[in-house]
Amino acid sequence: MSKTITGFSKLSKSKKIDWIVNTYFTNTEAAKSVLKQYWNSNDKLQQLHDEFIENTITNYYLPLGVAPNFLINGKTYTIPMAIEESSVVAAASKAAKFWSERGGFKAEVISTTKIGQVHFMYSGDYTKLKQFFNTVKPQLIAKAKPITKNMDARGGGILDIELRNKTEDISGYYQLHATFETLDAMGANFINSCLEQFAKTFRAEALKYNDFTPTEKQLEIVMSILSNYVPECLVRAEVSCKIEELNEDKGISPQVFASKFIQAVKIAEVEPYRAVTHNKGIMNGIDAVVLATGNDFRAVEAGVHAYASRNGKYSSLTHAKIDEGVFTFWIEIPLALGTVGGLTNLHPLVKLALELLHHPSAKELMQIVAVAGLAQNFAALRSLTTTGIQQGHMKMHLMNILNQFEATDEEKLLLIDYFKTNLVTHSAVVEAIKKLRS
Ligand code: MEV
Repeated sequence: MSKTITGFSKLSKSKKIDWIVNTYFTNTEAAKSVLKQYWNSNDKLQQLHDEFIENTITNYYLPLGVAPNFLINGKTYTIPMAIEESSVVAAASKAAKFWSERGGFKAEVISTTKIGQVHFMYSGDYTKLKQFFNTVKPQLIAKAKPITKNMDARGGGILDIELRNKTEDISGYYQLHATFETLDAMGANFINSCLEQFAKTFRAEALKYNDFTPTEKQLEIVMSILSNYVPECLVRAEVSCKIEELNEDKGISPQVFASKFIQAVKIAEVEPYRAVTHNKGIMNGIDAVVLATGNDFRAVEAGVHAYASRNGKYSSLTHAKIDEGVFTFWIEIPLALGTVGGLTNLHPLVKLALELLHHPSAKELMQIVAVAGLAQNFAALRSLTTTGIQQGHMKMHLMNILNQFEATDEEKLLLIDYFKTNLVTHSAVVEAIKKLRS
């Protein structure tokens, strides 16, 4: 059977599934039943999910966990996290508890400016282009009024538009570089709609601009799109305590722990191979909260990693120091998040997650997410510099191995108990299951 098809999106869901299973699977009934077992019996809820994207054939589950005891700026949160990696929620919870007993996390939003650009080509005199831009700028803003009026009324909107000369990079390349305040919305649709309107106005006015030659009038809009690089939409979170308060249960003194911890951070600051893994651990916490609250984790990932390379070398997102006997550990990251619009009013679990977080503003959510990243990094470095990561990781992974072997509830209880005092490795678990079953 041909593996290509035209008009697939127009087929009904069950016809789509028929085509897929008949084309790609030998056991068609088994494949169908795997897909269908994830359908929700509540038809309305299923339809909602079907309509999020095109060609939905089933739902893809991720666990939604919670990490309690996060004390942030004096307020206690239980943070929702959607993630598949076994040890992430446990690690976040542990770090939350640890810091809740040492004053908690402090977080502050440094700035909330978002960016979008109209990329265009112009061959002609730059001075004339600058004059044209200055003349047309008020119109760019005025013609976007139907899009911006609600946002303006709430105190947000277009902050500025600049003309940028990029001809050193590409001959004839210029930008309208615009900045926006989108308040509690992530703002992607708002920004993109404004940019497309700027482009329309810019092009139309260029055609009418008397000082331009016929060639100059033909400036060409290449594209209009927001930037996911948001170095001015920045949040900082930190923890600190006296070194002696870092009393560890890991068999090393607080002083040795603090100094090893700081060395680990310094290594991630200078060594990109380590920095990527270090930051990946931070993103374990960040993505999980971003996803649970219905935000765009791809946008956050792209922006955060670009920020981590802003000085020309990929580096750690967190930093640590000891100053007059006080240990301080902090993160500074760009996060473009929303608590209104998008999935936030649509996905029942996202609504629940936001309610659990006391209906945060976008700024408050930025603080919560930054804290989740910092906590995750603290937990990872704490394990790495003391017991090693595998002890905790494999303990959490134990359940996955038991499930792979279809362990019964009774077997699980016995083996979890056994591995409380024995080292968890894949082979040790397999061995123990075999022994139990023989
Ligand atoms: C695993 O998902 C994350 C860690 O590798 C992070 C780190 O090494 O810092 C444990």
